[in-house]
Amino acid sequence: MSNCVGLVVASRDERAPVGTQVATYSGWTEYATLRLEDNDLADPDMGDERDWIQTLGTPGVTALIGLRDVARLQGGEVVAISGAAGAVGGVAVQVAKAAGARVISIAGGPSRVRHTVDTLGADLGLDYTSPDFDEQLAQASAGGIDIFFDNVGGKLLERMIGHLGTHGRAVISGTISTYAGGSDNGITIDTADLLLERKIVQAFNVGDHYAASLLPARETLAAGIRNGSIKTVVTEYDGLGSAPEALAAVFRSGSGDVGKRIVRIGY
Ligand SMILES: NC(=O)c1ccc[n+]([C@@H]2O[C@H](COP(=O)([O-])OP(=O)(O)OC[C@H]3O[C@@H](n4cnc5c(N)ncnc54)[C@H](OP(=O)(O)O)[C@@H]3O)[C@@H](O)[C@H]2O)c1
Repeated sequence: MSNCVGLVVASRDERAPVGTQVATYSGWTEYATLRLEDNDLADPDMGDERDWIQTLGTPGVTALIGLRDVARLQGGEVVAISGAAGAVGGVAVQVAKAAGARVISIAGGPSRVRHTVDTLGADLGLDYTSPDFDEQLAQASAGGIDIFFDNVGGKLLERMIGHLGTHGRAVISGTISTYAGGSDNGITIDTADLLLERKIVQAFNVGDHYAASLLPARETLAAGIRNGSIKTVVTEYDGLGSAPEALAAVFRSGSGDVGKRIVRIGY
């Protein structure tokens, strides 16, 4: 099962006549028979299919809700974001910048780091695969990080909790370093440091926020697309045959891909 954006080619539901754009879940398939659920209609006036799969889809909504509602981002704060060249992280960088934050982006490899600065607008990009990453991070964090928006988990999260300033918040969006057999799961947390500095470490699942916040979040993100503060970024793979390669790239650090990986199937 995966997120998909598609066009209706036959319909018995008058809310979705032939040609309607929908954003929903399907199998990896050219055609799917689906029942229209609430919120499946993907208004083309809000965004095209790329927008609906990234910015207006799960990644963008996760970035916005994670920063705004979970981390309670304030303008002027320092926000570090891991997985910053990816689907969720890429929107998070832009949402934080639009809110007036100073953004430190963390990604794997020089080209992905450059993308987060040159295209997404991060103030400083750090390459966690670089041999002097720890020194660069310590220097960048010297004034204290207010928010760490984390897509990676593991040892990076451990380090970043240490770099949070007083009242700092680490918001756990994902722990990709622990997926697919990753062994980077056990971390040490200095509870005395948490207490003394009143730090918060909080994980969230965006689905818990859908009932109250999905539609308004999409409106906010669509406004960001319209005013140019948020760019949708995708890397496209062509055809179902490319799906294994696209999926494997999610779990490979330093691939050349940026933004949301899309497998385009007959659309
Ligand atoms: N909380 C929620 O409700 C929610 C909702 C949606 C997604 N998520 C989570 O958000 C995270 C990002 O998802 P996404 O779709 O935006 O993925 P993505 O960032 O587009 O792709 C995954 C990226 O993770 C990095 N990565 C892979 N293996 C790694 C490792 N061992 N260590 C460090 N980095 C590694 C790679 O980037 P580099 O090349 O830069 O290393 C890779 O490109 C995932 O953890 C996902 O589960 C959470």
